[in-house]
Amino acid sequence: MDKPLPDIRSHKALRAAENACTRCPLYKNATQAVPGVGPARARLMLVGEQPGDQEDKQGRPFVGPAGGVLDKALAEAGLARGDVFITNAVKHFKFEPRGKRRLHKRPNAYEIDRCHWWLDIERKLVKPSIVVALGATALRSVAGRPLAINKVRGRIVDLANGGRMLATIHPSYILRIEDEADKRAQYRRFVADLKVCAKVLARTA
Ligand code: URA
Repeated sequence: MDKPLPDIRSHKALRAAENACTRCPLYKNATQAVPGVGPARARLMLVGEQPGDQEDKQGRPFVGPAGGVLDKALAEAGLARGDVFITNAVKHFKFEPRGKRRLHKRPNAYEIDRCHWWLDIERKLVKPSIVVALGATALRSVAGRPLAINKVRGRIVDLANGGRMLATIHPSYILRIEDEADKRAQYRRFVADLKVCAKVLARTA
């Protein structure tokens, strides 16, 4: 059994606790933990996989290439990035050194599950009405169990642990697609998924 969640009542305390985290080995090689950013109370929370190279250096989520795709898609969906709380399922960058480069490595189930309690605390503090899981790692963390994206993609579903979720792809996936037509189609579908959230939020404003 894991220990009960620590009693953390502010984002400042949460950032400090995340930066002192040794719950899995990823803290050893990362520059710093990358905490969530955004309004202390936001109606929408976006959850990515883990910080990338740029995020690890700057200490902020989605400031690299995937962040560029995300910003554009949010704007096209009618969502202001400044209104959204953006975080990751795993708070430390996992990578493999290759010469001077640091190659992204996917977090494993143990690392995702160890990091999950930080996301739980973020959700308790922010109280978003919708949590968007970007990609498989985020979906595992948000849902609290392995789940296939295609089974739940693009619609609002109730979470067993409270709140509502929408699952979609990770913006890095779009960056990796080589075929231009396919890339455009996947991007359009990504924007359409985000628009589902924008519509629900507009209805309940
Ligand atoms: N990918 C993520 O999942 N999160 C980031 O913060 C950046 C890239």
